Amino acid sequence: MIGLGEVLISAKDLKKRVQALGREISGDYEKHNLLLVGILKGAFVFLADLMRAMSIPVQVDFLGVASYGKESESSEEVKVFKDLNEPVAGKNILIVEDIIDSGFTTDYLVRLLEVRSPASIRICTLLDKPARRRVPVAIDYCGFEIPDVFVVGYGMDIGEAHRHLPDVHQLIEKKG
Ligand code: IMP
Ligand code: MG
Repeated sequence: MIGLGEVLISAKDLKKRVQALGREISGDYEKHNLLLVGILKGAFVFLADLMRAMSIPVQVDFLGVASYGKESESSEEVKVFKDLNEPVAGKNILIVEDIIDSGFTTDYLVRLLEVRSPASIRICTLLDKPARRRVPVAIDYCGFEIPDVFVVGYGMDIGEAHRHLPDVHQLIEKKG
């Protein structure tokens, strides 16, 4: 049986790191327009905190993708269930992800958005699991690198459970 394990990153540490990312991104885009593209569902909590940690005006839009379904396995097949509401031509896009694992999702998203002629595309992820990478992804902003463990909380789920938790927890195998 799979159960909720210990806290891997506390709400306090998440807050501190997200504030720092917000400052860094605000500095980098001070003289440019910026569109945050949040990847649903997992990134909505991170995005909400990140944009409030920024000191520049930003626009926000969402792309809904699913690659996992109910299992914790990566899939090369990415399903888009919600596209952006607005065109992105001429805009500076920052893709905001919860976690980059195999890299398939982010790689797919970059290719999807590139053909729409944005001014630029950068990638921001709260968590990075480099040990799991199967396609290279050039990450511009990363909250934390984590080992090859499955995590939930702070927007992230397993089978839609645990998104509401304020800390990031590890999932563990439980006996019985
Ligand atoms: P990738 O395509 O394998 O890089 O996976 C990307 C997506 O899988 C992420 O945006 C998450 O939604 C999900 N994912 C990957 N690892 C985890 C995890 O440890 N916990 C929860 N979701 C995960
Ligand atoms: Mg997910």
